Amino acid sequence: MPMKYYIVTYGCQMNVHESEKIAAICEKMGYTLADKREDADLIVFNTCAIREGAEERVFGNVGALKKMKKQKPSHIIAVCGCSTQKESTAQYIYRTFPFVDIVIGTFNIPNFEHYINAVKSGRQLEIFKEGDIDETVPYKRTSGENAWVNIMQGCNNFCTYCIVPYVRGREKSRQEENILNEIRAVVAEGKYKKITLLGQNVNSYGKDLTPAVPFSKLLKDICAIEGDFKIWFMTSHPKDLTDDVIEVIANEDKILKDIHLPAQSGNNRILNLMNRRYTREKYLSIIDKIREKMPNARITSDFIVGFPTETEEEFQDTMSLVDKVKFDSIFAFMYSPREGTVASKMDGQVPEEVKNRRVNELLALEKKIQQQEGKR
Ligand code: 5AD
Ligand code: SF4
Repeated sequence: MPMKYYIVTYGCQMNVHESEKIAAICEKMGYTLADKREDADLIVFNTCAIREGAEERVFGNVGALKKMKKQKPSHIIAVCGCSTQKESTAQYIYRTFPFVDIVIGTFNIPNFEHYINAVKSGRQLEIFKEGDIDETVPYKRTSGENAWVNIMQGCNNFCTYCIVPYVRGREKSRQEENILNEIRAVVAEGKYKKITLLGQNVNSYGKDLTPAVPFSKLLKDICAIEGDFKIWFMTSHPKDLTDDVIEVIANEDKILKDIHLPAQSGNNRILNLMNRRYTREKYLSIIDKIREKMPNARITSDFIVGFPTETEEEFQDTMSLVDKVKFDSIFAFMYSPREGTVASKMDGQVPEEVKNRRVNELLALEKKIQQQEGKR
C-alpha cells in the first residue's frame, strides 16, 4: 500500500499554489493523495498569517490531531507557510504541540523532501530567513482549468498593517524566460483555459531584474504565445498600476478585463498612515482611466476598517468611495494587529465592536449597490 498525503491550505492563492509544489514533492517521494486527512500518513498544514483569525484556526486544527497521532504514532504532521515563517509562532507550535514532527517556514518548502526524510531521526524545526525563487521543483496542478503561475515573490511596500513583507521577504522576480517557458508548457498541455499570474504586487514585476522587464512587456509576451487561453493576474497595487499596463489589458484579447485593485481606505489620512502611497483622488483617477478604456471592466477591491485612530468620519470616506466606484465585489476586513508591524504599535487601536459595526455597515452598503446595479 502506498503511503498517503493530505494538505490543508489556508489563506491566499499564493499558498494554494505553493501547496501544489508540496503535493509534487510528496508524489515524487511515492505518496499518493488521501481522500481525507484521517486516511493520510503525512498531513501538511500550509498556514496563513494575514489576520489573527487565520492563525487561530491553524492552532485549533493542529491541536485537534493529537488524538489521531496517539492512535497512529507513525503519522507525520508538518506545519509550514507564513505563520511558521515567524520565529515566535514556529517556536510556539513546536513547544505547544509535541506531536507535530516538522515546523518550517515559507523559504524551506522547496526542501520539503529533506525534512520528511530527516524526521526519522527526530523532530525538525528550521526557518530560513530569506530564499531565492525556486526553479527546481515542479507543481502538481490542482485547480481544474486554471493554472496558477507565480511571477514573483515577496513585497517591498511595507504597508504598516501588513505582515507579508516580514514572512515573504523582499521582492524577487522570476526571469521572464522561465515564466514564458512554464506558460508555453501549460498551454501545450491543452487543458488549461485560464492562466493566473501570481505575485504580492504584480505591477512591480521585473524592477529587480537586469535589465528591468516592465510588467506590461511580460503581459504582451505572454499574449504572444499561441493558444486558446485567458490571462488573469493578482494583486495590483494602485500606486504601481501604470498607464502602459492599463493599455495592455485593454488591447489584448487574451487578458481578462477583471481587475482586483485593493483600495484599503477612502480617507487620505488613513491611507497615509497605512503607507499606501496614493490618495483617494489618485485611486479614483485610476478607476476613471480603467473605465474610460474598458467600460465593462469588472473591478473588485479590498478594504480594511478600524485601522488605528480611524474616526467615524474617516470610515465614512471609505463608505463614500465604495458608493462612488460601485465595485463589482469587495472584500472587507476588520483591522487585525500583526505582531512586528508598525500599525500594531500605534496608539488609538479601535475597539472590536466598532470594527465589527463598521465592517457590517460596509458590507450592507456593498449589498445594496449590488442589488441596485444588478451585479452579482
Ligand atoms: N488586518 C486586516 N486585513 C488585512 N489585510 C492585510 N493585512 C491585514 C490586517 N493586518 C487585508 C488587506 C489585503 C488583503 C489580502 O488582506 O485588505 O488586501
Ligand atoms: Fe501587504 Fe501592502 Fe505588500 Fe500587499 S502591498 S502584501 S498589503 S505590504
